[in-house]
Amino acid sequence: MTDHRIALIPGDGIGAEVLPPAVAVLDRVGARHGVTFRYDEFDWSCTRYLAEGAMMPADGLDRIRHHDAILLGAVGWPGVPDHVSLWGLLIPIRRQFRQYVNLRPIRVFEGVPTPVLGAVPGMDFVVVRENVEGEYSEVGGRFNRGFPDEMAVQEAIFTRPGVTRILDYAFDLAATRRGHVTSATKSNGIVHTMPFWDELVVEAGARHPNVEWRQEHIDALVAKVVLDPSRFDVIVGSNLFGDILSDLAAAVAGSIGIAPAGNIDPSGEFPSMFEPVHGSAPDIAGQGVANPLGAIWSASMMLDHLGHPEAGAEVLAAVTAVLANSPVRTRDLGGTASTDEFTTAVLDTLPPPR
Ligand code: NAI
Ligand code: MG
Repeated sequence: MTDHRIALIPGDGIGAEVLPPAVAVLDRVGARHGVTFRYDEFDWSCTRYLAEGAMMPADGLDRIRHHDAILLGAVGWPGVPDHVSLWGLLIPIRRQFRQYVNLRPIRVFEGVPTPVLGAVPGMDFVVVRENVEGEYSEVGGRFNRGFPDEMAVQEAIFTRPGVTRILDYAFDLAATRRGHVTSATKSNGIVHTMPFWDELVVEAGARHPNVEWRQEHIDALVAKVVLDPSRFDVIVGSNLFGDILSDLAAAVAGSIGIAPAGNIDPSGEFPSMFEPVHGSAPDIAGQGVANPLGAIWSASMMLDHLGHPEAGAEVLAAVTAVLANSPVRTRDLGGTASTDEFTTAVLDTLPPPR
């Protein structure tokens, strides 16, 4: 038996509704593969912020540092500014745990209607987003607050090691897939950081002669993701470009509710964190109708990361089969199923215990 200790952070809104399905799936598939999970749950959230003035306790990171992985629902709630909830919980975890890769696979499942013509089943790509530097930096400030000449400056930080390691990750990943990398750039408009990024892409390409690559300006690239998404294999982008691209791609694939993400420290020194791409969805929270697929797929990615790729693949196969062979799907995918009904269908479709 392999035993994993998992930190569970349900967070806010539907975050708390989609994590139990992910846990149920993990326990079921784990039992088949001789893997057990022990969960420690943390109430870090906007609810906690409103009661105690902080999203997590001062020693929060120390409490989860030695877990094997973190599974997070979503954070954010009306009444707490989004930058407070994000910078009080998610960003510290990503940065302090050196989770420099944000991995976001996207695919169109058979049986899921997509709003986009070219997004046929077969669209299957991964956005590799730089996760700890770039445009989301703390360097900068506000000046002349409250005066007519008030101003704000925010510096984008691109370091050679930071860009190189995310590019190498993307090229290595492409080598295990269809062997193609698209680099998101904007070196025609952003004249310092983006030409630097492009130069490092050329270097990464030379280190990976088995992988083809091209670069696209982000504005043209987003149009192609809508018009012809099947052409992409791995798209690598900076923190900002990768963030926007992956939400767009999830919508192209049918719903933001299906998209998963891994925040990964490839060195293994710190725990990696897996979470659906979507937020807390206050508009549907409490109704039991949230799509748990994004959270379940995130759990499947966690299985891959923890060294159980067969178990991870079984989870994805079960989800795929439910969508292809049954009408059971949540409202965001045009169905009528509740969160529980969809979860039950996935559990019933998983292979039986051995
Ligand atoms: P959102 O992803 O929460 O919701 C956008 C739309 O998609 C809503 O109409 C929602 O009902 C729908 N939706 C999202 N997930 C769904 C699911 N699993 N099943 C069915 N429908 C789903 O994004 P929004 O509204 O911009 O943000 C709400 C809150 O969540 C904010 O406080 C925001 O800061 C936070 N947020 C947190 C994230 C995280 O924890 N990683 C990511 C994105 C937003
Ligand atoms: Mg986002």
